[in-house]
Amino acid sequence: MGALWRGWRDVLGRLGFDSAALDAKLLTGHALGLGTLQLATRENDLVDDAAAQRVAELLQRRMTGESVARIIGEREFYGLPFALNAATLEPRPETELLVDLARGVLPAGGHLLDLGTGSGCIPIAILANQPDATGIAVDLSGDALIAAKANAERNGVAERLTLLQGSWFDALAEHRTAPSPLRGEGWGEGFNAGANAESLNPLPAPSGRPLPSGERWDPAQKFNLIVSNPPYITSAVVETLSPEVKDFDPRLALDGGPDGLAPYRIIAAQAKTWLKPGGWLMVEIGYDQGAAVCALFVETNLEDVAVHRDLNGLDRVVVAHHI
Ligand SMILES: C[S@@+](CC[C@H](N)C(=O)[O-])C[C@H]1O[C@@H](n2cnc3c(N)ncnc32)[C@H](O)[C@@H]1O
Repeated sequence: MGALWRGWRDVLGRLGFDSAALDAKLLTGHALGLGTLQLATRENDLVDDAAAQRVAELLQRRMTGESVARIIGEREFYGLPFALNAATLEPRPETELLVDLARGVLPAGGHLLDLGTGSGCIPIAILANQPDATGIAVDLSGDALIAAKANAERNGVAERLTLLQGSWFDALAEHRTAPSPLRGEGWGEGFNAGANAESLNPLPAPSGRPLPSGERWDPAQKFNLIVSNPPYITSAVVETLSPEVKDFDPRLALDGGPDGLAPYRIIAAQAKTWLKPGGWLMVEIGYDQGAAVCALFVETNLEDVAVHRDLNGLDRVVVAHHI
């Protein structure tokens, strides 16, 4: 096994992969069903042709630029495991700052909204650390919500997280205006992440509403906290990103329109409608978007607008208060 992974390490190294050794170890271990520690302790074990072929298939995917996390189908975020699919952005470590800040303001028993939830990493990380909090997570992609549902279940927060498919705040409004006869006037249909997995269509149609009616949520409720990591890369720049991002992260998760600010305008315009007095809005931003996003929030009379930097010293999160 040692010779096998080291051989692939050398191939990746020659191709210029910075993390050639780690990638080769992780993918070899994954293909063989072994952790990196087990791999190390079985250096001299022989590998049959079928197993070597499985390893080669994964490494060849890596050579096209697909990330190790996408190949393995899982990535850790805030110390928790998150399954990925083709519709989910791979959660980034920078986004953990948003979770830290959110945890600092969400009151006991608080209720949050996450716009553009993807894998569900942000609300799931918050709810996993705040056992009395509840939340709603929205995404336009039904396929992303399938992953978010699985992740909510796996991380033990499914009963406290409702998932809604739709565009930004329209998802809330749509579910409000579609009362179910079973639920009574004013109760919208969402799909609660705690609904039975069997009730989900595993391959939802790309358009339409694949989510079955699950639990109910009260659309009259407002939020103590709205969080979002929306797509914020300008359309022109998306084309110039590394293959790992451009070819494998979903375009819907990246493209923020001609100036990268389109989702922030929608969020700024409607946040106060959905925030409780005293509630907070927090969004992840690109390193050069702090001033522009602050200006959008100030224009809508949000208070205490501030930018927070990540561990690399880059502007990463804008927060605002609805007094
Ligand atoms: C940058 S990704 C963030 C995903 C996840 N929150 C994270 O931090 O890893 C943006 C997400 O917004 C979703 N999205 C894009 N346009 C949307 C829209 N109009 N309404 C709701 N969600 C949208 C994408 O599908 C994607 O999941």
